[in-house]
Amino acid sequence: MNYPNQTLISLKNQIVNCILCDLSKNRINAVPGTGNIHDKIILVGEAPGKNEDERGVPFVGSAGKILDKALTESGLNREDVYITNIVKCRPPNNRVPTEVEIDICINAYLKNEIKLISPKIICIMGATALKSLLGLEHLNKHRGKVLQISSNKYFVTYHPAATIYNIKLKEVFFKDIQKLAQIVKEDTSTLKDYL
Ligand code: URA
Repeated sequence: MNYPNQTLISLKNQIVNCILCDLSKNRINAVPGTGNIHDKIILVGEAPGKNEDERGVPFVGSAGKILDKALTESGLNREDVYITNIVKCRPPNNRVPTEVEIDICINAYLKNEIKLISPKIICIMGATALKSLLGLEHLNKHRGKVLQISSNKYFVTYHPAATIYNIKLKEVFFKDIQKLAQIVKEDTSTLKDYL
């Protein structure tokens, strides 16, 4: 969708043609990040699933429906955020991406997406994204918090897929997205209140 700047366009082109790791061998489509880069909110999931692989768009399956609903209820919309994944190709049978796949993909793409967008906040969804991006375990320890790490601010929550069969996690996830919306609505100078 919106790639108004040439550098993100070229990054997208690199992603859709990527053969840097074996995940490229089994994919239908690579799945670049998509959405609005002007509001400077990035949401990061784990990896495309079946629906995303078929359509080449992130979070368009059942996890995506939950995410869309949580965003809408928070007053944010999918159009207000940029949504991407740690790895851009679907791992076979939806297995967790390997450390090598994660390393290659983050260094080639996610780091550049973050650099180009220069986000106010990066919402990390799920344990794989937390470990891959920040090297942190124990999602529950960090969930619902803003972490300031070097020049970036991160907000940590569950992966929406983790909430599909767990109503309690779903409630927490929806509240977290509301908190994220609240944080980004306020002047970023007040972000320190959440740290
Ligand atoms: N799960 C993810 O982590 N990313 C997607 O794009 C879809 C499901």
